[in-house]
Amino acid sequence: MRVLLAGATGYIGQAVLKELAAKGHEVIALARPGHTLVEETQAVTVVEADITMDTEWDSQVPPVQAVVSCLASRTGAPDDAIRVDFEANQRLLARAERDGVAHFVLLSAICVQKPVLAFQQAKLQFESALYDSPVPATVIRATAFFRSLVGQLARVQAGKPFLVFGSGEGTACKPISDRDLARFMVAQLDEPREGTVQRIIGGPGPAITPLAQAKMLCDAAGQPCRLRSLPINMFTWLRWVITPLALFSQRMAERAEFLRIAQFYASESMLVWDEATQCYDADATPEFGEDTLEDFYHAICTGGRPPPDRREHSLF
Ligand SMILES: NC(=O)c1ccc[n+]([C@@H]2O[C@H](COP(=O)([O-])OP(=O)(O)OC[C@H]3O[C@@H](n4cnc5c(N)ncnc54)[C@H](OP(=O)(O)O)[C@@H]3O)[C@@H](O)[C@H]2O)c1
Repeated sequence: MRVLLAGATGYIGQAVLKELAAKGHEVIALARPGHTLVEETQAVTVVEADITMDTEWDSQVPPVQAVVSCLASRTGAPDDAIRVDFEANQRLLARAERDGVAHFVLLSAICVQKPVLAFQQAKLQFESALYDSPVPATVIRATAFFRSLVGQLARVQAGKPFLVFGSGEGTACKPISDRDLARFMVAQLDEPREGTVQRIIGGPGPAITPLAQAKMLCDAAGQPCRLRSLPINMFTWLRWVITPLALFSQRMAERAEFLRIAQFYASESMLVWDEATQCYDADATPEFGEDTLEDFYHAICTGGRPPPDRREHSLF
């Protein structure tokens, strides 16, 4: 089928593009002018447009049968999140409604189950727009990506200790590779869809704590496993320091939001949240795929694959 893919230049978007092409779909890939795509085959038509800025963004897009959105704010800053995670997706949805598409697949995040951050609110706002739309849709709430768990590679390779918050066992996730997530997302297009459904998805288990990540990464890097514990509230303290400045500076306001995001990920698990027990539930978190974080670390450390480009996702 002909699929309009938005966010085709992102980490997951690039993997989805490859998978769509591999599965024989004709892809119309939306990219901001000047931003290049990894996969440019005959099956892929690139439409250069900025969906957040150009009112005529879809004038070059032919009628499509499905839409896949991997759009996401790169900063998580409140204004950007509204512009990208909500408004840009709304524009895609309006186009999907006009074309009467059979399926809209949205990449969302498992963390929206506890919405305290601006970007989570923007994502939820769009998820709710999908539920209200007549377009059949799948909301994919993914757990942590492998890319989010390589931030300390250079530290560890340089013989420095792995940084953990508290004991390093207060949170856990079932990380998923870009390839496995892309396979899961594209497979949704084979399912006849009525209404909107939500799919939470993680990689193959078991759930992994930061302490377990440290052991895996140090082992792959051939380094002894040394840890340094940081106080879990350090982001809150830093935020208190810059909050007065944030009243006068947009840049400082964005730094303050970044610290809120960092605090969230340092203290919350990327697993299904059980409202009844008020606990995260690893067993209830669905698993998919074959790629393991351990193999991923080994492949990077042995030069079998390059480390992913982390861009704005760097914390350490
Ligand atoms: N990190 C994790 O562990 C994790 C876990 C679960 C779910 N998620 C969710 O997964 C989603 C996608 O993640 P990702 O890592 O693939 O994102 P990403 O690499 O940051 O890619 C974002 C995509 O959105 C586009 N975009 C951003 N701002 C734009 C703007 N102003 N105008 C037009 N296009 C814009 C980017 O285009 P450009 O290339 O032109 O910037 C890029 O194609 C996010 O919703 C995230 O919350 C992440």
